[in-house]
Amino acid sequence: MAITSVIGGQWGDEGKGKIVDFLSENVGIVARYQGGANAGHTVYIGEQKIVLHQIPSGILRQDCITIMGNGMVLDPVGLVDEMNMLNNLNIETKNRIHIALNTSIVTPIHKAIDRASETATNNRIGTTCKGIGPTYVDKYNRVGIRAFDLLNIKSLKEKITARLKVAENNNELIGISISSIKLELEEFYKAVTQIAPYVKDTFTLLHEQIKNGVNVLVEGAQGTLLDIDHGTYPFVTSSNPTSGGITTGLGLPISKIDRNIGIIKAYTTRVGKGPFPTELFDDDGKQLSNIGNEFGATTGRPRRCGWFDGIAAKYSCQINGFTEVALTKLDILDTFEEIKVCVEYEINGKTTKSLPSVMHRLDEVKPIYETIPGWNKPTCEVEHFNELPLRAKEYIGYLSDLMETPIKIISIGPERNQIISR
Ligand code: IMP
Repeated sequence: MAITSVIGGQWGDEGKGKIVDFLSENVGIVARYQGGANAGHTVYIGEQKIVLHQIPSGILRQDCITIMGNGMVLDPVGLVDEMNMLNNLNIETKNRIHIALNTSIVTPIHKAIDRASETATNNRIGTTCKGIGPTYVDKYNRVGIRAFDLLNIKSLKEKITARLKVAENNNELIGISISSIKLELEEFYKAVTQIAPYVKDTFTLLHEQIKNGVNVLVEGAQGTLLDIDHGTYPFVTSSNPTSGGITTGLGLPISKIDRNIGIIKAYTTRVGKGPFPTELFDDDGKQLSNIGNEFGATTGRPRRCGWFDGIAAKYSCQINGFTEVALTKLDILDTFEEIKVCVEYEINGKTTKSLPSVMHRLDEVKPIYETIPGWNKPTCEVEHFNELPLRAKEYIGYLSDLMETPIKIISIGPERNQIISR
């Protein structure tokens, strides 16, 4: 029996979906512990591209069941869409999706508040507008709707009607038509009746299965630098994607995790607003964006691209306690003559290797780069680590030294088989 966690080590979009899919081969349960439909986990199976937003990627493995933990904020309408998409691909969802009784629920009101906040106020974060922040606000304000509320539609409707009144009275819905929310609510209630049978005591299920020796994979969404506590606040998401979130978001003690894998891209990307020290605005940035096809899986927004940030990556390894790193999208660097890696930040004429010491002024730091020669050879068909070009191996070794963490998995393309482990 083994419990493995997979956590984004940068600003999200590191390619977690593919790594979770790869690791879930002999796993009985894949569980998510935070976030919601703001995630977009892309998996390619042959020609088929599958994007999952809420359902853990383990659903794509026949023998796997999935748990959506209490730390998540779950959108019933989005969940039904996702289940329909999977059913159309002949992937069974019945008895394979389990929603914790105390998972927070995103309603059309929360999505509307998110949209209003992004368009009509000065508090613009560049969110995905999926209602994530407003749902967590209600959770922590102790007025949230939880999955067990879906089991009693009459009292659910009363709670939602009351919440809508509060939102109107508090001017939370500036610029949003109330009648459009009411229409969305009809669809919401339909979705609720469809997903209610999936709500159950996942805590007991998870712990019993672990006792029975079932392998478990814990799937993070977003990334360490989007963490509400440890990320680039306020330009963060509203949950804890870092390993600490596993304990609270699933009721699974961190001491149970055997293998804690950080997913880190061979360069850096970010969607939405906020500081990004190694961001590129030149041809190299365009090349990363084009070759890497860097567009958000959830919103379609172009991702900002930049060189590997060794300071941020090491910080991420420290916070999460990664036992190893899976390096993704190495192949995107195949055609670069030279590759840069940020090894220090400069601010006010002083240099630092500590991200937390400059977190509050991250938009002012200047990255200091080490330049590494590129390998200029395709890597996408390589099957074993030793077959990689020497300079690619050196690059991997260099990043590993910077992060003080071994790189044990390397992804070299979007397909299920384009992966090297060592
Ligand atoms: P929210 O999570 O929708 O509230 O968005 C807050 C910030 O996190 C925005 O900058 C989003 O672009 C970013 N974000 C949220 N989810 C993801 C993700 O899965 N990948 C990358 N960025 C994300």
